Amino acid sequence: MNNAILLQRAMSVLDLCTQDLALRLNSDYIDSITSQDTVRRWVNGASSVEPAALAWLAELLRFQALASTKSIITWPSKQSITICVANMKGGTGKTTVAINLAVVSQIDFGIYTTHYSSEECAEYHAIRDSLSRVGVKSLPLSQWGMENLSNARQINIVDIPLEQTHSALIESRTKENCKLRPDILLIPGDYGRRYHAAGARRTLGLDGIESIIRLLHIPELMNTDFANTCLEAGIDVTSELFLPFFIPCSPLGGSHIPIDRSAIWRNPEQKFHYEKLLEYIINLLGGSIMQPDEAAESIRDMDMKQLLDHME
Ligand SMILES: Nc1ncnc2c1ncn2[C@@H]1O[C@H](COP(=O)(O)OP(=O)(O)OP(=O)(O)O)[C@@H](O)[C@H]1O
Ligand SMILES: [Mg+2]
Repeated sequence: MNNAILLQRAMSVLDLCTQDLALRLNSDYIDSITSQDTVRRWVNGASSVEPAALAWLAELLRFQALASTKSIITWPSKQSITICVANMKGGTGKTTVAINLAVVSQIDFGIYTTHYSSEECAEYHAIRDSLSRVGVKSLPLSQWGMENLSNARQINIVDIPLEQTHSALIESRTKENCKLRPDILLIPGDYGRRYHAAGARRTLGLDGIESIIRLLHIPELMNTDFANTCLEAGIDVTSELFLPFFIPCSPLGGSHIPIDRSAIWRNPEQKFHYEKLLEYIINLLGGSIMQPDEAAESIRDMDMKQLLDHME
């Protein structure tokens, strides 16, 4: 019976009907003829599945899994993760971080991702267009928390504009809808600049933020004095609040994402940094991400059930 279930799952993943499977088995592998009726009996559990046919299907699954090896994600215990990006100073890289993270999450890690940004921002439509061209769902900030969240694994990335920091992070929390609580609040900025650091300090000072907070340094120049600038603003760069790595500014400006689904990142180095950032966040929340080369190693050792769990 269990084998019938494995067979059904494999047929669904490989998109094979009973007729296709009988044909493939006859042409690819088995010496004896396998009729469509035999396959049907395997599928409905009336007779047990030929072990060699299952082994053949497992190799077909393995081949497909290896051909499209992506990272393997061990999800944190919480299914729906919300990452907010805010800083109570304008122009600190909030929008850039939110967009790049959303694209890495959806495209590079294959996670169902929704990006929220304010309709009141002049760039709103341009952002929506460029995200939809690469297949990332983008919604107005006003819809954050209104979506009927299923139990599916998903990441919500929320770009909070300067003027709405208080209302989005503090006032909304008093509403009954507790979906609005971020799991992690990222505060980006060039911490070598006094105003960016001061904006971060103000954000940290908001009364009532309960999420994990991390400060992300995006230096425009390799300013060796940024620790002192932070200290003046009351931020200790050696505290765990500060991310243990930074994302250097790119000479190309803030937008590095692919132009459409078939294109590659305009700046692969930035892609690398944002992958690392997302990996860090997933780890912080109790999950992990296995990189594609490591994932391929593990796919080679998987049994059929593990392959199906990985591919479904
Ligand atoms: N990693 C980066 N490399 C190069 N330029 C960057 C990077 N990040 C941000 N910038 C540039 O910094 C400027 C401000 O970035 P962004 O719009 O993301 O900030 P913001 O905090 O969302 O601003 P606002 O408060 O106006 O919403 C933009 O011109 C952007 O191109
Ligand atoms: Mg912005």
